[in-house]
Amino acid sequence: MADDQSRKPLVYIIGGSAEYREELVQSLVTMYRVKAFDSAAEGQFACSVSLPVALIVDEVVQPKGGANCIAQVREQKITRGLPVVFTASKQNSEAIAEAQSSGGVVILIKPYWRSNLLKAMAEGVNIGVEAEWEKIEPKQRTALKNTVSSFNNIARLIENGEPLPYGEVQESCGPLVDAIASDNYKDILRGVQNHDNYSYVHSLRVATFLGLFGNVLGIKGEDLTTLTTAGLLHDIGKMSIAPAVLNKPGKLTDDEFVVMKSHVTATLEHLDHSIDIPKGVIIIAGQHHEKLDGTGYPNGLPGRELNQLARMASIIDIFSAITDRRVYKDPVPPERALDIMINMDKQLDQPLLALFREMLLDAATY
Ligand SMILES: [Fe+2]
Ligand SMILES: [Fe+2]
Repeated sequence: MADDQSRKPLVYIIGGSAEYREELVQSLVTMYRVKAFDSAAEGQFACSVSLPVALIVDEVVQPKGGANCIAQVREQKITRGLPVVFTASKQNSEAIAEAQSSGGVVILIKPYWRSNLLKAMAEGVNIGVEAEWEKIEPKQRTALKNTVSSFNNIARLIENGEPLPYGEVQESCGPLVDAIASDNYKDILRGVQNHDNYSYVHSLRVATFLGLFGNVLGIKGEDLTTLTTAGLLHDIGKMSIAPAVLNKPGKLTDDEFVVMKSHVTATLEHLDHSIDIPKGVIIIAGQHHEKLDGTGYPNGLPGRELNQLARMASIIDIFSAITDRRVYKDPVPPERALDIMINMDKQLDQPLLALFREMLLDAATY
């Protein structure tokens, strides 16, 4: 598959030595489309031609240093709200304080691990992506804001080993369900597209497609909310899996695949610690990787034991995974994803898949 750079978020690096900039480019190129500039003026000019989603500004920038460059960025109308990651050594505390006072700046102390660079970038990009949500229609904006804050909260609770407040998670999905039921959801899919928390992006897309599919199949009211909430929760067990396995490009080793598959039981354990989890949520979380021919996991259940919810979840999880943008791959176009899935004729419920395909074509959802 061609590496379609144009789908990746554009990021500019300003300052640092040529060697440092090249290292940064290499660290970021799988996730971002990166351009690097020596001076503040070059960076500013590039922003006027094509606006990036975030800037990385080093402490060393010609002519007056990184903090001054950031101050200039904040003065220009076009770049005023741009998220900035400022890379500086600890000793440069004056510049760090100055950069911080500009607002919307994530500080990254040198030297740093690549994982911390990616984390800082994600934080920076998400500030920008979430700021863009201010411009979209209120119902869809609320759907995005509520679900991202609920998802971040879930991550915190899981880290602390605390139970999930199902009622609150369900409530956070209310605006998403309203948006789906009123056929007013496309800005949600567009708005989440460039968000840098992949687990959130995937879970929200699964939630949205599950809700849409359920709506088309006549599922209404509380059941539609349960379906959508299940989408947001279906992979929460992945939060306990090492990013090296989760984001590994290419094929997993047998051992890594065992770890990856364990996300289903981990999800079920988290749900088990919580109260009031509807049965539908458990089925979707527990069976979205099962296949009709019994080759799925974790239990290799045969088709006769997989009800409609499990079959819908499997179709939507695969469709979303293929069409998601990942660290290591660009999204496959939806038409191609559906072709791949039609060829999985022994594994997926084909009449249900035909209905899903029809829904996507009708709505031009993608
Ligand atoms: Fe999963
Ligand atoms: Fe999934």
